[in-house]
Amino acid sequence: MEIKPLGDHSNSSLETQKAPSQNTQTNGVFISTYGCQMNSNDSERMYSLLEMANFTPVNTPEQANLIIINSCSVREKPVHKVYSEVGRYKKLKKKNPNLKIGVGGCVGQQEKSALTKEQPLIDFVFGPDNIDELPNIVQNAYSSDGKIIHAKFYNNEPYHIENMVRNPGVSTFVNITKGCDNFCTFCVVPFTRGRLRSRPAQDILSDIEKLVDRGVKEVTLLGQNVNSYMGECGTNFAQLLVLLAEKTNILRIRYTTSHPKDFTEELCQVHRDYKEKVCDYIHLPVQSGNSEVLHRMNRVYTREDYLKKIEMIYKYVPSVSLSSDFIVGFPGETESQFLDTLSLIEKVKYESLYAFKYSPRPFTKAARFGDQVAEDVMQDRLDRLLQLHRAGSFQECQKYVGDIVEVLVDKEDSQKPGYMTGRSSQNKITHFEGSRDLIGQIVKVKIEQSHPQTLHGIRV
Ligand code: SAH
Ligand code: SF4
Ligand code: F3S
Repeated sequence: MEIKPLGDHSNSSLETQKAPSQNTQTNGVFISTYGCQMNSNDSERMYSLLEMANFTPVNTPEQANLIIINSCSVREKPVHKVYSEVGRYKKLKKKNPNLKIGVGGCVGQQEKSALTKEQPLIDFVFGPDNIDELPNIVQNAYSSDGKIIHAKFYNNEPYHIENMVRNPGVSTFVNITKGCDNFCTFCVVPFTRGRLRSRPAQDILSDIEKLVDRGVKEVTLLGQNVNSYMGECGTNFAQLLVLLAEKTNILRIRYTTSHPKDFTEELCQVHRDYKEKVCDYIHLPVQSGNSEVLHRMNRVYTREDYLKKIEMIYKYVPSVSLSSDFIVGFPGETESQFLDTLSLIEKVKYESLYAFKYSPRPFTKAARFGDQVAEDVMQDRLDRLLQLHRAGSFQECQKYVGDIVEVLVDKEDSQKPGYMTGRSSQNKITHFEGSRDLIGQIVKVKIEQSHPQTLHGIRV
């Protein structure tokens, strides 16, 4: 893989700097990753950049001379999680005076120097937009006694990166956008990831071609709101999918996450016309089934708008599998508004969903709303929502029994020798009898048993 040396930012002086000189052999780096797939991809990028600066990835913090916590702040006590992890490294710091500890990711961006003030074991802090500068930041941390804080957005610069996944396997992730401009009133992401930026379509195309050459068969396009993608020549998300489907030899394309407001008829047509490549799975987070709550969340669609989009999707892609995210106990949510969420779940019949208790986040509007919902009420709503979904999804998935599904085989079944697993186009993990030589191939499996998360069948 061709790897661009360090960052693209014009003010970067990284190319002229050397890696830390001490103990090259023992320059182990350990990265602890929280949060979304973006953060996992960012950690891969950090490892690759640090390898070019003479660090060696290690499997445990005990082996490391450099520990980085790639943090997430989307929900529940994120800052506390960082402090408690750093606290666990106190003994290692005592034993190894060369050990440096850094915090990156969304908590780094959100808290900046507050982190080093509160927890002096932290040597440096950087934000998600500063990853290309990491070798330089680390260099500075080694050469100075002070704390290094580098959490700056490049909101006005084009988004140029190259994929740096180290061991992509059969299926991997490719960033297409960064940041978000939607400002849902509950969400910290626009403050931790900055403004929406889209990568040039040609860059994405060439990344995917290179991944294909490395044996990748499936890519998942990544962004906080992928269907707001806008390439440099006006390429929209649906057009990007067509380009990737037509111009690359990738077998399958998935994407996450899409926003209902940007889910267009054109995109549905692409699902229908490129069904061979664009998978029958759509994650379309609704958050609430009540229009008044949606309005206060600034989701800019109503319950009715969302249901119309679902109808449109089913019209073009009848075999689609849908999933969603929900927040229960958004400030001011009444019992009857919550019941609208339950009724939406009954109507849409999601095959899987993720539900969260609302948690107030810094900088967000909803954190300042007066009528926060009590913890026990949120817990009760979450339990009821999950119970309803469990019953419904078991029923729903029975439709696969007897069907023949196409499975992209990705590994051996860790539980059952002689069995393999892969994913169907609908994103269901499918188990069947087979051998390792099938890895990377799409095989047909007749389904005998179906559970909400997994299918079991025989190869036909
Ligand atoms: N960009 C994606 C969401 C990213 S965050 C989208 O718009 O769909 C992933 C999920 O975390 C959200 O869909 C939401 O359900 C949940 N979430 C975000 N902020 C939250 C908060 N403050 N409290 C509880 N859940 C939250
Ligand atoms: Fe957050 Fe809304 Fe943007 Fe998703 S679309 S990242 S929930 S602000
Ligand atoms: Fe978390 Fe930041 Fe991702 S808040 S979910 S790591 S964008």
